[in-house]
Amino acid sequence: MVAFSTAALFVTLRVLFTATSSFAAPIAAPVTAPATPEVAAASSYWLADIKRQGTVAYGASDFKIFRNVKDYGATGDGSTDDTAAINQAVSDGNRCGQNCDSSTVTPALVYFPPGTYVVSKPIIQYYYTQFVGDAVTVPTIKAAAGFSGMAVIDSDPYMEGGVNWYTNQNNFFRQVRNFVIDLTAMPATAGAGIHWQVGQATSLQNIRFEMVKGGTGNAQQGIFMDNGSGGFMTDLTFNGGNYGAFFGNQQFTTRNLTFNDCNTAIFMNWNWAWTFQGVTINNCKVGIDMANAPTNQTVGSVLILDSTITNTPIGVNTSFTQDSIPTGGGTLVIDNVDFSGVQTAVQDYTGKAILAGGGIVKSWAQGQVAGAASGRVQDNLPTPAKPASLLNSQGNVFTKSRPQYENIPSSQFVSLKSKGATGDGATDDTAAIQAAINGMADGEILYVDHGAYVITKTVTVPAGKNIKMTGEMWPLFMASGKAFNDMANPQPVFQVGETSGDSGSFEMSDIVFETLGAAPGAILMEWNLKASELGAGGLWDVHFRVGGSAGTELQADKCAKNPATKHDANPDCIGSFLMMHITKDASAYLENTWFWLADHELDLSSHSQIDLYNGRGLLVESQGPVHLWGTAAEHSQLYNYQFANAKDIFYALIQTETPYMQPNPNSEQPFTTNAKYSDPDFSACTTDACKSAWGLRIVDSSSIWGYGSGTYSFFSNYNQDCLATNSCQENMISVEKSSNVNMFGISTKAATNMITQDGTSMALDKDNRSNFCATLGMFTVA
Ligand SMILES: *[C@@H]1O[C@H](CO)[C@@H](O)[C@H](O)[C@H]1NC(C)=O
Ligand SMILES: *[C@@H]1O[C@H](CO)[C@@H](O)[C@H](O)[C@H]1NC(C)=O
Ligand SMILES: *[C@@H]1O[C@H](CO)[C@@H](O)[C@H](O)[C@H]1NC(C)=O
Ligand SMILES: *[C@@H]1O[C@H](CO)[C@@H](O)[C@H](O)[C@H]1NC(C)=O
Ligand SMILES: *[C@@H]1O[C@H](CO)[C@@H](O)[C@H](O)[C@H]1NC(C)=O
Repeated sequence: MVAFSTAALFVTLRVLFTATSSFAAPIAAPVTAPATPEVAAASSYWLADIKRQGTVAYGASDFKIFRNVKDYGATGDGSTDDTAAINQAVSDGNRCGQNCDSSTVTPALVYFPPGTYVVSKPIIQYYYTQFVGDAVTVPTIKAAAGFSGMAVIDSDPYMEGGVNWYTNQNNFFRQVRNFVIDLTAMPATAGAGIHWQVGQATSLQNIRFEMVKGGTGNAQQGIFMDNGSGGFMTDLTFNGGNYGAFFGNQQFTTRNLTFNDCNTAIFMNWNWAWTFQGVTINNCKVGIDMANAPTNQTVGSVLILDSTITNTPIGVNTSFTQDSIPTGGGTLVIDNVDFSGVQTAVQDYTGKAILAGGGIVKSWAQGQVAGAASGRVQDNLPTPAKPASLLNSQGNVFTKSRPQYENIPSSQFVSLKSKGATGDGATDDTAAIQAAINGMADGEILYVDHGAYVITKTVTVPAGKNIKMTGEMWPLFMASGKAFNDMANPQPVFQVGETSGDSGSFEMSDIVFETLGAAPGAILMEWNLKASELGAGGLWDVHFRVGGSAGTELQADKCAKNPATKHDANPDCIGSFLMMHITKDASAYLENTWFWLADHELDLSSHSQIDLYNGRGLLVESQGPVHLWGTAAEHSQLYNYQFANAKDIFYALIQTETPYMQPNPNSEQPFTTNAKYSDPDFSACTTDACKSAWGLRIVDSSSIWGYGSGTYSFFSNYNQDCLATNSCQENMISVEKSSNVNMFGISTKAATNMITQDGTSMALDKDNRSNFCATLGMFTVA
């Protein structure tokens, strides 16, 4: 994600700092060396006692990845102040803290056994850290009555003067899961659960926030998110507080959020695009308040799907009066929301009703529409009928949270290293990985110990073996060698199912795919699996990260940016042919997956922008069902997302960025149009600005259901002058020879044409200005 500060201009923070002291106090001096004796695992959760064999391949080989907070002296006894001990568990070993920017070689998985951990200051989550609470008996982190600091967990502390530790939009690779965060001992006038100021490849899962209920001057918040470029969260419960969640971010996907007894469940401070699904709001005063600064729109779009609001007088507070329908910003899309327990489903900021409550709203929007219908709407829409294959038995869009295998003992986990793979970042581990997969027995889970596993020819997961695999703190699978060198004859690196339509199941979580050097003939993942039932084939928190980090040989030293001279693509700086291919007879469920060609360096100290060339992001040719929850694809040359000959595809939401160096060289380099992969052809373009990556291309497809997109172009050959005219490239979203396309909440940045249909512009950026982006509420093709 681009280091970009314009967003701040559009943000008027109603509440900035919520705690008694504005800035997190510096971390306490390190406590003495961690206690050596292993604290007996008080839980059956496999993660507590699995054998630890993970190592960092491209960093210090003795770096300690796994940390149990009790090994650092945390008591979890409900009364001792555990702040210093927990912060020591997090920071131990020269990690990426203040002034570090980013690093992939000091990863830490911090485990909290069952217990109640009292803290008096923030627990600081360093870069590349997972906080994992026990999934069987979920631990509580309790703020002491005198807690001071921004939030109980802080993902990006502010230093004096308001400067963050990490650049918010580049604050990648972190998780927090399985916790109760309790603020009830604090005075109602202060306290926040998590300061979550993050970018892509981040997630919150299975967290309950306990806050003071009602009262005067209540200022508590479960989540405080000032800005970032995210991200995904799910399975969260907010009890009490002034705002259950205070949200501000470029774009985000959120689902399964429950709010009870909050003053305002969700305060939407700003966004470019935001999707909510499966929200339950009960006994609050306001459901969603998206009316920040009515005279100065800060919210691009809010989409709410499959949700229920009960015993709450006001559903949504928006920035527009009854008579002034928004010109882009303030877009609101409601799809299957039960407002039975609500007096006013949508009101304007002065309190006048726009839409009455008292029932289920099937489909309603406020904003611009284009395509089959056009103009401004603030009304019911024709109810779109999603295909049954995308829905669960209640008629909601199907969801499945990341499996944590909490009921499977560690004895059922098979270590990849124990099966002979080295993960040392140099040895060819192909045969060992294949043998481990082939040797898996029913009910076992393949545990990918942290490391970097070099793959030199296709690894195949037989569909019928029903393989489940999970990684330790994002181990790397790295494509390398001759087999992946020929861009005219690309080969899969990791193949799920041998041939398209092979039936079975497959689950993968917490793994990163990369290339080791240029791999112009690599398809990092080929997905052929047809899931035996909905959700039986999926990826959760699996990311594709090409270049820009230790071990990839595609870093700032070799692939420095070079905008000054007109040049061709450097053959040593090519990434993969295609990151992921979901083939024609496959079905798939992806949740929190980031397809990222690095735009900048994460490990070398320059942290500078880099010139790399990846062919394509995600190609979907499936006949469905395909669910893409919280995915993003950035910086590929030809396109970031393409649906070709596809059907019954759902996404919520997607985010893309065009390569910063384009058009130097343009999208025709170094990859050429390959008809076998239905590639776009840029030969009819008459300008360089036209030869730029598609954010999303839909061709020969039908039944496409898009709930939220943020597709951005921030540069032309690294120059940002084009932002003034919002014309960094000509086109962004293309719909060709397709039918039954239904897209909602569409924000684009600096593409002259937001959407083209069969080559004709359907919406111009300049006519549909929002806050920072241009925004449409809906675009449809019948
Ligand atoms: C993020 O939000 C903080 C707090 O409002 C603000 O100080 C900062 O400028 C913002 N940063 C960006 C890049 O928008
Ligand atoms: C509106 O936004 C502009 C640009 O961010 C800012 O300069 C101005 O102060 C804002 N006005 C109000 C009334 O908030
Ligand atoms: C939502 O999250 C809660 C809490 O983790 C969980 O118990 C519930 O099953 C989830 N519901 C859905 C529909 O995923
Ligand atoms: C709705 O938004 C306006 C403008 O920000 C605010 O003044 C008002 O208090 C909000 N209404 C409620 C019920 O929160
Ligand atoms: C959005 O763009 C389309 C095409 O340029 C135009 O027809 C429509 O009127 C625009 N919306 C507004 C509010 O101007």
